[in-house]
Amino acid sequence: MNEKKNYYITTPIYYPSGKLHIGHAYCTVATDAMARYKRLCGYDVMFLTGTDEHGQKIEDKAKEAGVTPQEFVDNIVAAPGGVLDLWKLMNISYNRFIRTTDDYHVESIQKIFRKMYDNGDIYKGSYKGKYCKPCESFWTESQLVDGKCPDCGREVMDAEEEAYFFRASKYADRVRDLLLNTDFLEPKSRVHEMVNNFIDCEGGLQDLCVSRTSFTWGVPVDFDPGHVVYVWLDALFNYMTALGYQNEKYDDVEKFWPADAHFVGKEIVRFHSIYWPAFLMSMGLPLPKKVYGHGWLNFNGDKMSKSKGNVVDPHLLSQRYGVDALRFFLLRSFPFGSDGNFTNELLIQTINNDLANDLGNLVSRTVSMVEKYFGGTLPEDQARDMDKDGELVAAISNLRDKYEEQMEKFQFQNALEEIFKVIQRANKYIDENAPWVLARDMEANGPRLAFVMYHLLEALRVCAILLTPFMPQSAGEVLRQIGADEGCSTWDSAASWGALPKTVTVRRGDNLFPRIDMDKELKELDAIMEEAKKVALPALEVEPFLEEQVDFDTFCKSDFRAVKVKACENVKKSAKLLRFTLDDGSGTDRQILSGIAMYYKPEELVGKTLVAIVNLPPRKMMGLDSCGMLISAVHTEQGEERLHLLMVDDAIPAGAKLC
Ligand code: MSP
Repeated sequence: MNEKKNYYITTPIYYPSGKLHIGHAYCTVATDAMARYKRLCGYDVMFLTGTDEHGQKIEDKAKEAGVTPQEFVDNIVAAPGGVLDLWKLMNISYNRFIRTTDDYHVESIQKIFRKMYDNGDIYKGSYKGKYCKPCESFWTESQLVDGKCPDCGREVMDAEEEAYFFRASKYADRVRDLLLNTDFLEPKSRVHEMVNNFIDCEGGLQDLCVSRTSFTWGVPVDFDPGHVVYVWLDALFNYMTALGYQNEKYDDVEKFWPADAHFVGKEIVRFHSIYWPAFLMSMGLPLPKKVYGHGWLNFNGDKMSKSKGNVVDPHLLSQRYGVDALRFFLLRSFPFGSDGNFTNELLIQTINNDLANDLGNLVSRTVSMVEKYFGGTLPEDQARDMDKDGELVAAISNLRDKYEEQMEKFQFQNALEEIFKVIQRANKYIDENAPWVLARDMEANGPRLAFVMYHLLEALRVCAILLTPFMPQSAGEVLRQIGADEGCSTWDSAASWGALPKTVTVRRGDNLFPRIDMDKELKELDAIMEEAKKVALPALEVEPFLEEQVDFDTFCKSDFRAVKVKACENVKKSAKLLRFTLDDGSGTDRQILSGIAMYYKPEELVGKTLVAIVNLPPRKMMGLDSCGMLISAVHTEQGEERLHLLMVDDAIPAGAKLC
């Protein structure tokens, strides 16, 4: 008997710390296309997604919102407009959705943590270093880039606490071997980055801190109250607990583990390609077959971020253009393994060129010609002309293999490119055969015209089958309009030309992809996004107040003085620095450098009375001494950082002490 083959694919589980944007939807849409493709090929697919709900970031956000962490995450995951709603909107065909706050997962994580402790791979120590809260990542000083988190570039905080550690160092050689000598991690370009930066770096692969005591929103370490399991250990094992590993909830480990593919964004490749296999090695479990690190979507060349107000809302876009057009755009426009630049212009261009002009036109021209010339049903009598038809027949017959080759490598853009080559060829075939000329003499040309139509329908049939994973609803509609029933809409039937019955009947429907007026649409989108930005971002934001207090004597040690700007100029080769020559009342000029060139032109400041702290130790910046610091006020307005130098009454003499 032919046993059904299994296929297990996952997306990262999302942090429900805010609304998901198009960047988040990118990976899930890709995973969905892959899962649907494998189902089409006849696999029994398990497609897992979910939410990663623990950690300090969530605890802090809940506190800010004045709710419990559980209420906070429930509100983002399950409430209207939340994560589950978004996946429904995007037509994501997941088979299972895991929340890391689900009881069965929590119970499994506790068992896993204890097993690793019992086998000696988790030990107790103390942690001192840096922590990036948004990424929930630990770093040593030397791993920081310009003092900031190497993954996301944001500020890190000091962290010092008693903690459990995972002996990652013990697995360094096996993980290196896995990365360098197998196809475990792709694209290959990510392999050396991982090995060089995290395994063959100074000090080698460091043991990983896997518990926290400074907050409580996590899976409790059941044998040591006060410790919660580090969120990444908790999160990574979701891929197995969701199959029933270490719990009674499911019984699918044997059927689906090891996973065939984990799709993950490039910034979390480190966790998936180094720590995840090391954890599994420690537990004596088989390793997943593939981790694929996809690129990031930027918006207008800039990183998508809520604080920049440039996040793209999938609800808005799918409402305007349809879910399928949006899904298609994401996978058609950017190579999956590299970064992509999302622009509204590119989106509309892709919809107009590929969907409205190429595919939409082919469907509507073909269906309406079959109606017009044959009343909707093709006659039995058809005349093939291999000289004119051979090329398109060959293109259709070879398409499935070419497409399969690209899909198996997760090269969605190339797979779609193959389909669109055939669609474009078919449009050209219409012009070459000029059906409207043939139709002038139906008696002589009827059979030939019928074949031309049949051939076009065949091109559409095979393309629509292969487009189903990307645009399930629209591809289904194409198949319906061209009269392809279930029997000739299968993977097997896409392997060759000629599955449609000769006397097929078409069913005309709505225009699938209306053309968009680019200029008008861009203006409207800009206006909507500007408005959304205002609503999404707090009008004014001030820096959080520091909790730590300074005693009065320490404060009094700071020497603030009024200073007058005698001269001010840009520092050569620096985009940021201004060089001030100041009268501080001492009789000797004082030089201060300040990184505010993007806020002021030097000539605006000459003659102004400013405030400086003058007893800081001198610092060298771009080879110049800076003796003190000018005081300014900073805040954020509509997502943009604003800075104002503190300027005081010019009647105040240089050198006056501020107290
Ligand atoms: N919770 C972790 C994953 C744990 S998996 C065991 C996490 N969550 S996340 O919500 O921050 O990100 C989820 C996914 O969205 C990541 O793969 C991330 O790379 C992806 N993206 C977030 N912004 C993105 C873009 N702008 N573009 C493409 N993908 C992006 O990380």
